[in-house]
Amino acid sequence: MKINGSRILVVNKDKGCGKMLNDIQEVLITQEQLQAKVQELGKRISQDYSGKELLMVCILKGAVVFYADLVRQISIPVFMDFMAVSSYGDATRSSGAVMIIKDLDQTIAGKHVLIVEDIVDTGLTLKYLVENLKARNPLSIKICTLLDKPERRVTDVKVDYNGFTIPDAFVVGYGLDYAEAYRHLPYVCVLKPEIYE
Ligand code: IMP
Ligand code: MG
Repeated sequence: MKINGSRILVVNKDKGCGKMLNDIQEVLITQEQLQAKVQELGKRISQDYSGKELLMVCILKGAVVFYADLVRQISIPVFMDFMAVSSYGDATRSSGAVMIIKDLDQTIAGKHVLIVEDIVDTGLTLKYLVENLKARNPLSIKICTLLDKPERRVTDVKVDYNGFTIPDAFVVGYGLDYAEAYRHLPYVCVLKPEIYE
């Protein structure tokens, strides 16, 4: 089965995947494009942090798939930690108020921290996170995001590593969800409009 050139390998209708595939309007970024970009980012990050010890912070849950692929493309010593945050708001719009659901396990004072996010939309989540983590005195703090939606930005956020700049559309897959669904899809896609209605 092919959707816009991206091959879907496993369709298990018994587990509801068949229903989810019917919800897709368009594949925006294919598995092949994602894989190539992750390799490129991993190479750049490894070069930029050469000789340093890097702590990569995964922002759960959206970044988990990207993060798991990215860390395996890093060729320097890397440490892993996880944070879960929730922005108050409805399913597709963030309000700017952020709550930490799971904090880091370790202190970051004196460490080089790279935040790994799924998407920068309004920028409010990352603005809060960067300020929160900066107060813990890391040696440096940078941002790596898979996707950037600059049209929707309401606050200044300096993105150091960006996978893809995308137009103002709500996307799912490769970790990103709509109402907690579609995270497992191996590509980034746009859902049919009736799904949100
Ligand atoms: P921001 O605070 O508006 O930048 O939003 C950041 C968070 O909103 C991301 O980490 C995502 O969880 C969510 N988000 C924003 N846009 C999308 C989208 O197109 N698809 C899925 N989640 C999104
Ligand atoms: Mg999210």
